[in-house]
Amino acid sequence: MRWNPFAGAYLADPARLWRELLDSPGGVHHDEDLGLWLITRHADVRRALGDTQTFGNALTLTPVYDVCPEAMAVIMRIDAPPTTAAADPPVHPRTRRALRATFANTTDRVEQRYGAIVRRRVDELVARLAARTGQQVDLVRELATELPLLVLLDLLGVPERDIARVRAWADGQIALVWGRPEPAEQVRLARGLLEFWRYCQGLVRDRLDSDRPGDGYVDQLLAYRNGDDEVLTIAEVSSIVFNLLVAGHETTAGLLAHALDQALADPDRWRAMAAEPHRVPGFLTETLRFAPAIDGWLRVTNRPVTLGDATIPAGARCLLLIGAANRDPAVFAHPDRFDPGRTDGSDHLSFGHGPHFCIGAALARLEAGLALTRLAAALPGLRLAPGHRRSFQPNVAFRAHRGLPVVVDTAVPAARRPAA
Ligand code: HEM
Repeated sequence: MRWNPFAGAYLADPARLWRELLDSPGGVHHDEDLGLWLITRHADVRRALGDTQTFGNALTLTPVYDVCPEAMAVIMRIDAPPTTAAADPPVHPRTRRALRATFANTTDRVEQRYGAIVRRRVDELVARLAARTGQQVDLVRELATELPLLVLLDLLGVPERDIARVRAWADGQIALVWGRPEPAEQVRLARGLLEFWRYCQGLVRDRLDSDRPGDGYVDQLLAYRNGDDEVLTIAEVSSIVFNLLVAGHETTAGLLAHALDQALADPDRWRAMAAEPHRVPGFLTETLRFAPAIDGWLRVTNRPVTLGDATIPAGARCLLLIGAANRDPAVFAHPDRFDPGRTDGSDHLSFGHGPHFCIGAALARLEAGLALTRLAAALPGLRLAPGHRRSFQPNVAFRAHRGLPVVVDTAVPAARRPAA
C-alpha cells in the first residue's frame, strides 16, 4: 500500500484509515513509501510493545525518512547514549531502574512529590487566561504546551528564561524524527538538536560542579549514580534529562489539547468538568483511548515474526498504530464513539505496554486533570472560536493540534444558568 501520513486525508482524520486497516484481513500492511510495516490490531500492537526480544527500540528515535547527508553529519555528532525509549536490554533494564528509583510514577507518589508544583503552575496559567476575558486565545500555546513544560522545568531545575529555547528544540526533535522536513530544515533542526544535547550535558555539569547541595531531579539521578559508572554514567544522566525534556512535555501537551478539544465540543461536557470532578479521570482515560497524543510508535524487528498471515522480516521498521489498536472492536465496544462512561477504556495502549510503559503516566494525568477542572471552574463560558477547524502537525507519531482557538469568558452561558 501507499500512505502519506504528512498530508491529506490521514493528517485530517486518521481514524478513517485505522478503520479500513483494522477491517482488512490480517491488519498488518507494508507501506512502500516510508518502508514501514503498519501494525493495527490491539493484540499485535500490545505484543510488539511488550516483546523486547522480537521488537527492539534501537531505531525508535531515528528519523523515518532518508535524512540528507548534511543533516546526518550533524546528527552523528549527538553522542547521547540510549537510555529509555531508545534502549534495549541490557542497557534498558539498568537505566529503567534509575528512572523508577528517581521519578515518581504512581498516583500517590506523584501527588506527594509533584502535586504542589503542578497546582501552582495550573493556577498561574488559569489566572493568566482569566485576565484575558473577551479575547480570543490559543489554548495550545497558552496552556496545553506551557503547563507540562513549566512543570518539567521546575522538576529538572531548568531556568524559566530558557523555556522558549527548550520548547523550540523539543518541537524541532519531533519534526526531525517523526515528520518529513525539507533538507534545509533538516539541517537547521539537527543543529538545534545538537545544541539541545549540549545544553542538557551543561545542566548536569553545573550540578556536578556546584558546591551547593540540591534536591532537584538531576541531583537525585547523581545521588542514585553515587559515582558508579556501572550504575549510571554521567552521559546517561544527561541522556535521561535530554529524553525527559521531550517525553514529558510534548506528550502531556497532546493529552491536554485533545481533552480540551473533546470537552469544549459540548457545553454540557465543559460544565461537567467543574461540577463533577470525580468524572474527570474517566474522561481523560477515554481521551487517551480515542485521541492518543502518540498514535504511532516505532519498533524494529530483531528476528522474523509472523503476525496473522503476514511475516515481517528481521531488521524491518514497524509503526505500531496505537490509535488503531485503541479502536479495535475485538477489545472496545462501539470503538469509534467517544464515551467517557465506558468500562473498557483502560485497555488503551496510549502509555505503551510492558517494560517501556510510560514512567510519566501518573504525572500526565495529574496535570491534565487539574488543568481541566480548574479552567472549567474559572471560565464556565469558555468556548471554541467560531469557525475553528481541527488540524494537526504533520507527523507519524505525535498527533498535535496546530492550535485550539477559544473565546475566553468567565460568565456562565445564559441558556445553562439554573432557573431562579
Ligand atoms: C499523555 C502523556 C504521555 C503519553 C501519551 C506518553 C506516552 C508514552 C509511550 C507510548 C511510551 C512507551 C514508549 C515505548 O514503548 O517505546 C512512553 C514511555 C516513556 N514516557 Fe511517556 N507519555 C506521556 C507522558 C510522559 C511524561 C509526563 C513523562 C515524564 C515527565 C514521560 C516519560 C516517559 C519516559 C521516560 C518513557 C520511556 C520509558 C522506558 O523506555 O522505559 N511520559 N510514554
